[in-house]
Amino acid sequence: MYQSLLTHLENGIFTITINRPDKLNALNNVVFTELNAALDEVGSNEEIQSVIITGAGPKAFVAGADITEFNGLTVKEGMELAKAGQETFFRIERNTKPIIAAVNGFALGGGCELAMCCHFRIASDNAKFGQPEVNLGLIPGYGGTQRLVQLIGKGKAMELLMSAQLIDAAEALRLQLVNYVTTPENLLIKAKEILTIINSKAPLAVAGCIKAANAVYDESQNGYETEIAEFGYCFETEDMKEGTAAFLEKQKAQFKGV
Ligand code: COA
Repeated sequence: MYQSLLTHLENGIFTITINRPDKLNALNNVVFTELNAALDEVGSNEEIQSVIITGAGPKAFVAGADITEFNGLTVKEGMELAKAGQETFFRIERNTKPIIAAVNGFALGGGCELAMCCHFRIASDNAKFGQPEVNLGLIPGYGGTQRLVQLIGKGKAMELLMSAQLIDAAEALRLQLVNYVTTPENLLIKAKEILTIINSKAPLAVAGCIKAANAVYDESQNGYETEIAEFGYCFETEDMKEGTAAFLEKQKAQFKGV
């Protein structure tokens, strides 16, 4: 169905694999178009409860934006490219279904930015992260300067942005850029294990957590007000009635997402 993505839906978990392994899964125009189409599918397919984004092959999650497409761009075209990339990555960050990155190798430039716009990240022990754009006379354009500061703090982010140094999985874990490090063989198993737990919770409440936590970094919102609104909204859901009743009756709640 897709030229540069593989998708697979099993037990409510939709796995999107960026599939250009010979180019280390670099993000070209086709990948962006198809990522947007896959995100449409995430929105419209009720069987999809949560999403894993990963890369094909043993070497790379995504080694960056496709550098061959940068050739000869004007300032205006460069800005348009960044804006379009940011819009796709906002769609991931603001998605109300959980989306996690399973980082299976190089996550550089746009690849690190893709991992960072996901709700959280897990990595295999061969993963390498970095924003090497200054090696190319560029800066990150898909939100990297913002989300790296948010995730690991300004001082370390500044160092990585300015030096183009890569960090390994252990350092990414230490800096809390990733939540877990595991073996390459166990990466998708671990991702599915975590999402299976999340998928068993009340979906509208999970969506409320995503919206409220994202509001911390959204200047157009007051995060505490967002929390109040999302908390209040839960009281009109069937799942909140089910969850509280099941607790009081010492039963396991059966959530329906309504
Ligand atoms: N854009 C386009 N093509 C890329 C790419 C990118 N970001 N990253 C890798 N590729 C291509 C290479 O050109 C090569 O293609 P070829 O076989 O047709 O020559 C192929 O993927 C394999 O990469 P290669 O460089 O041979 O692998 P390596 O193991 O020697 O090095 C990296 C791996 C990740 C260190 C190296 O590919 C690299 O530095 N990539 C660019 C990283 C970057 O600057 N990203 C930010 C972009 S804004």
